[in-house]
Amino acid sequence: MDKNDKKIIIAIDGYSSSGKSTMAKSLAKAIGYKYVDTGAMYRAVTLYAMRHGMIGKDHVANAQAIEAALPDINITFMLMPDGTQHTMLNGEDVETLIRRMDVSDNVSPVSAIPAVRRNLVSKQQAFGTERGIVMDGRDIGTTVFPDAELKIFVNAPAATRAMRRVKELQEKGIPASYDEVLANVESRDHQDETRAESPLRRAEDAVDLDNSDLTLEEQDAILVRLYKERISR
Ligand code: DC
Repeated sequence: MDKNDKKIIIAIDGYSSSGKSTMAKSLAKAIGYKYVDTGAMYRAVTLYAMRHGMIGKDHVANAQAIEAALPDINITFMLMPDGTQHTMLNGEDVETLIRRMDVSDNVSPVSAIPAVRRNLVSKQQAFGTERGIVMDGRDIGTTVFPDAELKIFVNAPAATRAMRRVKELQEKGIPASYDEVLANVESRDHQDETRAESPLRRAEDAVDLDNSDLTLEEQDAILVRLYKERISR
């Protein structure tokens, strides 16, 4: 096979609001790969559970009910005319709804349920059978695609990440205060790192990227360089 035809899997993992999605989307576009936002899949399951009364006000999720509902939850991605990708839950466009703070507040307990993880991990693996994919999340390089040719672990201080998230939410017209977002980011970091089933963990062979002081252009250049290095191996 010609080197230029070689298709690889690129796993981008990291903390909440570290800019993983922006990075993954931009890289996928630059190299003509598919992009999958796995956080959106956990968020869509969470939205379904909230709508069906499976999560209490105390953020305690009814794991049994959610597990039983998994066959009824169909998550797909739709490419919009403006080139963005929207998350669809049973055919409904939920892209804006799943980014709301109430979903962010409930997503960690839902994503800690082993049956939810097994279900979504197998769907994510199915997306990658033909390779040529950039996937972002928390456990892509460790659990979903431990054999990914390029793994990146993104991080930036919590305060920087919270500022970015507030800006992003404001741009989408979703109300959010800095204190509320910072508390949510810190609590999700903790829950994501300490859950029993595939916790957020840096893969040993991942490349670290702290993007606090990088412009988007600098970030893109680093990623494309890493991609070119990997396909020429
Ligand atoms: O990337 P995000 O902030 O949209 O992800 C939302 C939540 O989903 C995050 O708090 C943890 C969970 N998640 C996960 O457990 N595993 C993944 N691969 C992606 C996200």
